[in-house]
Amino acid sequence: MRTRTPRNQIQFGVFFQGVNSTTIWTEPESGSQTAFESFRRIAQTAERGLFAAFFLGEGLRLREHLGQVHDLDVVGRPDAQTQLAALAAITERIGLVATQNTTYNDPVDLAHRLQSLDLLSGGRAAWNVVTTDNAWTGANFRRGGYLDHADRYTHAERVVETVRAVWDSWDDGVVAADRGATSWADPSGIHVVERDLGHYAVRAEGRLPRSAQGHPVLFQAGDSDEGRDFATRAADVIFSAHPEFEDALTFAADIRRRTRAAGRPEDDVKIFPGQQFVLADTDTEAEEKARWVAEHQITPATAIAYLENVWGTSLQSYDPDGPLPDIDPVVEVTGSTRGSAFQFQKSQELATQWRALSEAEGLSIRQLVTRVGVRRGGIVGGYSTVADRLAEYADAGAVHGFNVSPWLVPSGLDDIVDRLVPLLQDRGVYPTEYRGDTLRDHLGLRGPLTRRAAA
Ligand SMILES: Cc1cc2nc3c(=O)[nH]c(=O)nc-3n(C[C@H](O)[C@H](O)[C@H](O)COP(=O)(O)O)c2cc1C
Repeated sequence: MRTRTPRNQIQFGVFFQGVNSTTIWTEPESGSQTAFESFRRIAQTAERGLFAAFFLGEGLRLREHLGQVHDLDVVGRPDAQTQLAALAAITERIGLVATQNTTYNDPVDLAHRLQSLDLLSGGRAAWNVVTTDNAWTGANFRRGGYLDHADRYTHAERVVETVRAVWDSWDDGVVAADRGATSWADPSGIHVVERDLGHYAVRAEGRLPRSAQGHPVLFQAGDSDEGRDFATRAADVIFSAHPEFEDALTFAADIRRRTRAAGRPEDDVKIFPGQQFVLADTDTEAEEKARWVAEHQITPATAIAYLENVWGTSLQSYDPDGPLPDIDPVVEVTGSTRGSAFQFQKSQELATQWRALSEAEGLSIRQLVTRVGVRRGGIVGGYSTVADRLAEYADAGAVHGFNVSPWLVPSGLDDIVDRLVPLLQDRGVYPTEYRGDTLRDHLGLRGPLTRRAAA
């Protein structure tokens, strides 16, 4: 029998985006963005494909565009924890990741809800920690620009530490192992958590014993220096915005360096960038399909809206198939309601850069937006080309996996699971079974950070 040296593997998670600008919701094949049936189908398809996790974002306020609700894309979504609790009942292995911010959530309440999900799902829950950094969201809570950027991460670190303390407040073995015991729980093993978080203080006990994975896995999404340092000190997994190969390599090197500096083994933090795939039998067909996808993701109306985000003013009089606006942006920097792709970038610089690109290559507004738009097409190719490409990511250690965003719901994972996954398995770069029952098992994580000394 031929023996092979095992290769690095990559894994998949699925990012059911909900609010976003890349899901095509206008086609006959497009399903509901809010009905349980769509979530069920995606989650069960992902589980069939041995995906590590089903992932949901969080939006605390409806997206806006020039002061109005942004109605060209999907704008609302169900609460992540409620939705994941429903999915826990109809799935068996896949991890369930809820994005929840640290700025507006109460840590004791958050700890209890996440721990409940973890317990009820048999140890499959994760918390994607975000700080949600804008005053516009804060206005929803009548808090305006409640915390500035650096303060958000100081506060986030305290919130995460408090949540973990609540999760750890029950010792192992607190609940009686058999019915012959005279009390259900041993109160001496339940400890009070007292923390001063600066803006408020908490005093509470956890209300639940541990789950099968100790406590929920921690993801982090936030790309600044502070965000990366925070992730490498506190998180198990980073949901990154760096999917392209060279960029992914640079990002991975940076994260390994920061992880070592935080006193942890360099591969302790797993990296899962968001990624879109456009697949077909051949490369040529995939390219054609990618053009179709881009055209449907970036309609004439969304192309104009995309530029308005940067210009900060109405560009409705411009022809989407014509040249870029000849007027300058009316804002200095792009705002925080304008989508993460160019949040807080200098408007004038972007406009100059885009004008130069469109003039050099003769691109219309729509063509330019397709070129520079979010995700820039992702990975496009025939199934075996893409399988080879992903094997390169695995071999180079550029990522531990991808958080896949399907551009069509709910059928968007079918070709990935039925056609791509088997090719990756043939190449030895994708799991052929779930490694265990919990999310921590699937991701090959060691125990919860706070419990390692005890272990
Ligand atoms: C890949 C990625 C996904 C994110 N998803 C969310 C989300 O679902 N909800 C949210 O409120 N913020 C989300 N954020 C934004 C973070 O909350 C954070 O506010 C923002 O990235 C600014 O922090 P930074 O300067 O460290 O990047 C996400 C950020 C990244 C990079």
